[in-house]
Amino acid sequence: MGKIIWSSAYSVQSAFIDHQHQILVGIVNDFNQAIARGEGMKTAYSILNRLIQYAEQHFRDEEKLMEIARYPAEQLQAHIREHEKLTEDIFRHGENWHSYGKEALPEIGRFLKEWLLDHILTSDMKYSKYVANVDDAFLSVR
Ligand SMILES: [Fe+2]
Repeated sequence: MGKIIWSSAYSVQSAFIDHQHQILVGIVNDFNQAIARGEGMKTAYSILNRLIQYAEQHFRDEEKLMEIARYPAEQLQAHIREHEKLTEDIFRHGENWHSYGKEALPEIGRFLKEWLLDHILTSDMKYSKYVANVDDAFLSVR
């Protein structure tokens, strides 16, 4: 699975969130690079867990930023539900891990890449015009 190369097309106009998205991109790339190097289930599992932990932190921060940016409540609720679904999706891989073999790893790597990029490019982009210039207000209450 090809490495994700960060591009300005992924920017949501918040330096704070872009930085967190870059960290998520880095973790997904680590996962795929580990597979390409022939690493086994144990390494891939620890990277998946790093993704689960960081994604939870990121979703909380992102939801708070959207709230401060006065993102419309109904859209915010829909976005929060999407984060819940995304969290469940990667949790499920962790729970099913014992039933996977090494041959499942490329498919999981592909899934993680789409999991992240689809969300940034379709859902996160919808809030970008609201969050431009609210980083300072967010960081002062975070
Ligand atoms: Fe999001």
